[in-house]
This record gives sequence, structure tokens and C-alpha cells, in this order.
Amino acid sequence: MGISSRIDAAMAAAIRSGQGAQAPARLAAALGYAVTPGGARIRPTILMSVALACGDDRPALSDAAAAALELIHCASLVHDDLPCFDDADMRRGKPAVHRAFSQPLAVLAGDSLIVKAFEVLARAAGHDPARAVALIDVLAVRTGMPYGICAGQGWESESQIDLSAYHQAKTGALFIAATQMGAIAAGQDGAEWEELGARIGEAFQVADDLRDALCDEATLGKPAGQDDLHGRPNAVRQLGLHGALARLDDILAGAIASIPACRGEAALAQMVHAYADRLVPATARNRPTVPGE
Ligand code: IPE
Ligand code: IPE
Ligand code: MG
Ligand code: MG
Repeated sequence: MGISSRIDAAMAAAIRSGQGAQAPARLAAALGYAVTPGGARIRPTILMSVALACGDDRPALSDAAAAALELIHCASLVHDDLPCFDDADMRRGKPAVHRAFSQPLAVLAGDSLIVKAFEVLARAAGHDPARAVALIDVLAVRTGMPYGICAGQGWESESQIDLSAYHQAKTGALFIAATQMGAIAAGQDGAEWEELGARIGEAFQVADDLRDALCDEATLGKPAGQDDLHGRPNAVRQLGLHGALARLDDILAGAIASIPACRGEAALAQMVHAYADRLVPATARNRPTVPGE
């Protein structure tokens, strides 16, 4: 089975397990709605790619890790779109969960997905208890405080934002989880894989800033121009369009250089290149230079 089929199967199994006969029907439906159709599934794809590069000797564990990571990501989006955060009506080309269902159900769906992520890892522990505990630890660190998504979102309530801590926690954290969890699922030391995840996360943030500034809502499947609207710091505003593109290329070169020695090193470098091409809208690379950009 290919990476994306493995991710889809693991996600479907996780969601099904939350939709048993006793479940309240609308919340059960909201769980499925929040994760399908998926977005780019970039985090679990990176996780699987790292696991495969490290030998993937416990595929059931890497499947569980990939699903757990994507469940956390989907939960973070459900909560992020709520009126008390970004108040966004659209996500992945359809109404956000709180618009399609209700605010209480969006809060509960997000909560349920977070809890489900850890349940999935706990249930896979039989395949290798020590690795499973390490996976739970990494995912918890990169989800909560002080290094995880909660911290990242928390920075938006401060009067002075530490930009680097904000980006590292909001976006970088789950990319670090992706590379570390992929390595751990395959029996490797997660610490060695932190730098690659951090660099991919940094590149993703710059690319996301480029897309937010350059694409429309129809292309993004979610509101565009949000950074300007919310007055958030943005790489395009700080560096200009061409500066942001150059920065992205620098970060990606650093990411490739930081890949730890492993049997799938070349394939991983290729994956980073392929993602770089997908992350940046072609219109950005092909635009003529405008004075001041
Ligand atoms: C969006 O992430 C949230 C950010 C951290 C900027 P993605 O762009 O990976 O969202 P999906 O999963 O593909 O929809
Ligand atoms: C969402 O960040 C990322 C989370 C950690 C929840 P943003 O608010 O910047 O991303 P989008 O534009 O809604 O996807
Ligand atoms: Mg937000
Ligand atoms: Mg948002």
C-alpha cells in the first residue's frame, strides 16, 4: 500500500472507532466532516516518508503515528476557525465545522479528535511499548504547552509577540513531531530528526505566508489575506515577494542538508524538493519583479 492509502486507512479506522452505536449522531458526523476530505496531509506524509527512510520495521506503529498526528492537526484547524480565534467560515473548500454544525459541536469535535489521537497511539502500543510511549511523549510536547500548538495559538493573545517562538510553536511544532515520530516509529532516535522538522516547518510557514498574500479564497479553500486582515507578521510583508521566495529556497537547502544519514536519505531529499514545488504557487515564482517587492 502506498503512503496516502495507508494514511487514509488509518484515519478512517480512527474516526470509525469514535462513531460507535452509542455516539451522539451529530457529533459523530462532525468528526468525519472535520477530517474528510483531507487537505494536503503533509504532516503524516512526512512522518511516513521518514519512517520508510528508516526501514519502517513496525508499519502498524507508523500508521498509528501518522493518524494521530493528522488528527491533532485537524483538531487544531477546527478550533482555529471558531469565532473566538480566526472566525473563518471556510476550510478545505467547504463550511468550517462550526458553520456546518454549531460552535458547541466544533469545540467538542476538536476535543474528541485530540483525545482520539492519543487513544490511537495507546492502542498501538502492543506493537512496541517503548516506541509507543516515546511517540505519545513527542506528540504531547508538540501539541500542548510550552512548545506545542497551544503555545502557538496562545501567542496571539499577547500584546508583544515573539515571532520566532510563535511560528515555531504554531506551525513548526507539528512538523518536528512529523519527522521525530516517523523516526521513533521505525526505532530510531527522535532527537536527531528535530532539525529537519524545524526547517521544513519554517519553510512551510514562509510558503503559507506567500499563499495567503497571493492566492484567492477559491484557490486556497479558506479565507485569503488573513495575515493582513488580522495584522499578523508575515514573511511577504517583512521581506517582499522575492525576498520571501529567496528565504524559502535557503531554508529548503538547509533542510536537505540536515537530513540524518539513513538508508532512504536520497528519497527524503527528493520529497522535500517535491513539496517545495507544491507549496509555492507557480504564479509567485513566475511573477515579474515589481519595484519595492
Ligand atoms: C494549515 O495547514 C494550517 C497552518 C499551520 C498554516 P495545511 O495547509 O497543512 O492544511 P491542510 O491540512 O492541507 O488543509
Ligand atoms: C492555523 O494557523 C494553525 C494552527 C496551529 C491551528 P492559521 O490560522 O495561520 O492558518 P489558517 O490560515 O487558518 O489555515
Ligand atoms: Mg489562526
Ligand atoms: Mg486560521
